[in-house]
Parts: sequence; C-alpha cells; structure tokens
Amino acid sequence: MSTTIMYGNVVADQIRSNLKTEVEQLKEKAIFPRLVVVIIGNNQASSTYVRIKKKAAEKIGISSAVYELEEDTSEDYLINLIKQFNEDLNTHGILIQLPLPKHINEKRVLESISPDKDVDGFHPINVGRLSIGQRAFLPCTPLGIIKLLDYYGVSAQGKHVVVVGRSNIVGKPVGQMLLNQHATVTYCHSRTKNLFDYTKQADLLIVAVGQAHLITKEAVKEGAVVVDVGNTFLEDGKVVGDVAFDELKDVVSHITPVPKGVGPMTITMLLHNTIEAAKRLN
Ligand code: GUN
Repeated sequence: MSTTIMYGNVVADQIRSNLKTEVEQLKEKAIFPRLVVVIIGNNQASSTYVRIKKKAAEKIGISSAVYELEEDTSEDYLINLIKQFNEDLNTHGILIQLPLPKHINEKRVLESISPDKDVDGFHPINVGRLSIGQRAFLPCTPLGIIKLLDYYGVSAQGKHVVVVGRSNIVGKPVGQMLLNQHATVTYCHSRTKNLFDYTKQADLLIVAVGQAHLITKEAVKEGAVVVDVGNTFLEDGKVVGDVAFDELKDVVSHITPVPKGVGPMTITMLLHNTIEAAKRLN
C-alpha cells in the first residue's frame, strides 16, 4: 500500500507563513495582536513549552508577554491578574499554562478568562459552543488535527472515527469537531474492554493516551487513516508516539509521524486563535 505520511511540520510552516502575512495586514489597520502567557512555579516542561510559544508568536509578529509567577502565588492574585488582562484592550489572547500548583483551583482560574480571549479554548462557554456546533475558540491540538487532515484531503464525512482517549484537551473535543463534520464517532478509553475490536473498525483512528506504541498492526484496518497524538520520552531521550509507526506505515493509507506530526500544529493553532481573537475584538 502506498502510504501518505502527514507531516505536521510542513503544514505548520505553510500556515505560519500565511499567519505572518495576516499579522502584517492587521498592523496596517493599527491592530497589533498580543498574547499574554502566565506560568506559575518551575515546572521544567512547562517552561520549555512557554518559551517555544513566545518565540513562535514573535516570529510571525505577534507581541507576547510572559508572566512568570512564584509557585506560592495565591489563586486570588492570579484571578485578579487575569481580570486586568480581560479588560486590557491591547491584549487579545490569554493563556494560563497548565498544570497549575495544587493549591490553585484550575476550574475557577479557567472560568475567569474572558471567553473572547480564551485562545486555549478551555473556557466552559467555548466548550459548550463547540458541543452545540456554534462558532467557538477551539482547543489547539484538536484544531491542529482538523487542519492537518484538511491539508491532506482527508474528509471525515460518513467515516467511522474512533478516538482513543477522552481528555478535555484532545480526545473529547476532536471527536466533537469530527462529529460536526458528519463523522460517526466512537470514543474509547482506559476502561474500554477489547480495545482493538473498536480500533479495527476505524476508517479514521485518533490516538491520544500517552502510551508508547499501544497501537500495533493488529489494531488497525488496512487502508485506515491514523493520527498519533502521543508524545512519550523514552529513557534514551527518543520521543515516540502511541502508534507503532514502523509496523503500520505500509498497512494504512495515511499516518502522522512522531515527532513532526501533530506537535507542530498545536502551537500554530495558538497563533491562529490569537489572530482570530485580535480580529474579533476590533
Ligand atoms: N499544558 C499542556 N498543554 C497545554 C495547553 O495546550 N495549554 C495550556 N494552557 N497548558 C498546557
């Protein structure tokens, strides 16, 4: 079987180049897209992600500010800060890097972000809008998957989509987005019995559980489209996905690699959402 490898890094570069042009055009209309990122404590992985987000924003002309707060920052202080960003006419996107320290109530914090500046798409208003098919800020990883499938000409209409993983950040919203595109969606998760009985039925299989090489050749139907959201660091420093890529790559019709698959699309969609927020707020 001739298999198409869906390279997110290639698609991300192309989208970022278009976004850069869009930012230039907004600036001509005196709209200067601005993203604020807040990070609390010293989680190494979070610091790296935030640095990458800031650099990516600046590369396409979005101004960004990173607020690095101490681990013992109070919930009220954080919420007050968010309220200031909500009211600041020059701030279009607000991102609170997760996870938060244990003493801070994540739900209260996310709900304090204005839904119009919620470039992560985590506010219940945006989650609700997605669920009833209204225009919403959509979470970045699932939106990146949708754009990647679009680029490679994969339509979900009438297809059986199987989503493995039911997180609020990836699994649940990607299933809803594809349902909105007229797919038939099945969700599987850690308590699903006989997982492969379901995955083998998938025309489009999306795996987002963080379990290295969970999906083997026996788990897929020939000719299926496979999207791997996994990102596990092995002891030797290598990054692998939830899918045994080498085994599957001659069996399926389309597959994303890890790295260079879904990953680069996520930050690109954060940039996309920030520009969208700037346009909507002006
Ligand atoms: N931590 C890990 N992924 C994400 C994300 O997409 N957004 C935020 N805010 N925090 C995260």
